[in-house]
Amino acid sequence: RMGTLELHWEVDSTSSEIQRRQASLADLSMVLAETQTAGRGRRGRRWLSPPGLNVYLSCLKRFDAGFAALSGLSLAVGVIVMRTLTALGIEGAGLKWPNDVLSRDGKLAGILVELGGEYQGPCAAIIGVGLNVRLTDALHEQAGQPVNDLATLAGNAPDRNCVAAALITALAEGLDQFEREGFAAFVNEYARYDLLSGEPLSVHGANTVLEGVGAGVDARGALLLKTGEGVQRIDSADVSVRRA
Ligand code: BTN
Repeated sequence: RMGTLELHWEVDSTSSEIQRRQASLADLSMVLAETQTAGRGRRGRRWLSPPGLNVYLSCLKRFDAGFAALSGLSLAVGVIVMRTLTALGIEGAGLKWPNDVLSRDGKLAGILVELGGEYQGPCAAIIGVGLNVRLTDALHEQAGQPVNDLATLAGNAPDRNCVAAALITALAEGLDQFEREGFAAFVNEYARYDLLSGEPLSVHGANTVLEGVGAGVDARGALLLKTGEGVQRIDSADVSVRRA
């Protein structure tokens, strides 16, 4: 069965929409919405989602291997968003571990990967992508962090349908590739876009701060940090990384 493609005018969250109807959706089904009333970001933050400006998309991808094998998935989705920008001819963006898509002036896209199912058995990922195509002054003010959009990077606003089409294509192809080959197929591209490599960083955990220099990512998607005691592997997504 082929993945379905749904365009909603308004939902609470495209990822919640997939979550509720997951059992009846085919693999690689995608849900887009013109606007979200309760768009979700990472760490319980919200994702402002007014109509007419941006792309809000979620995709269901099932895996047989279990989520033990999916550690690099959210980084791979970052690479997939970078491929989307390249396909649109837009330059000047890069990746901040684990999966923020940034330009020099701020965040361009957010990625939210939610996993359900078994550790070593059938599982499913709901992959949500919010892509800033054209932001308003109000959005810049409300975002709570520096944000940027494709219109600014490209010099003029790209057609939103072309952006959505490029993202859908890159996701369908890229997620199949991830299923066949894992993060290994993405690691070189990730390195090309890695904005933290060679940068002095501080990694903030619940009660710890680690200082070092970014040294890329490993084949499982962990951040490598060069410290006084050698290279440390930062696994958890429950840390936040800042330029020191
Ligand atoms: C982040 O915090 O950076 C992740 C933001 C993810 C936003 C997208 S928009 C489409 C999908 N639906 C949601 O509710 N969230 C994701």
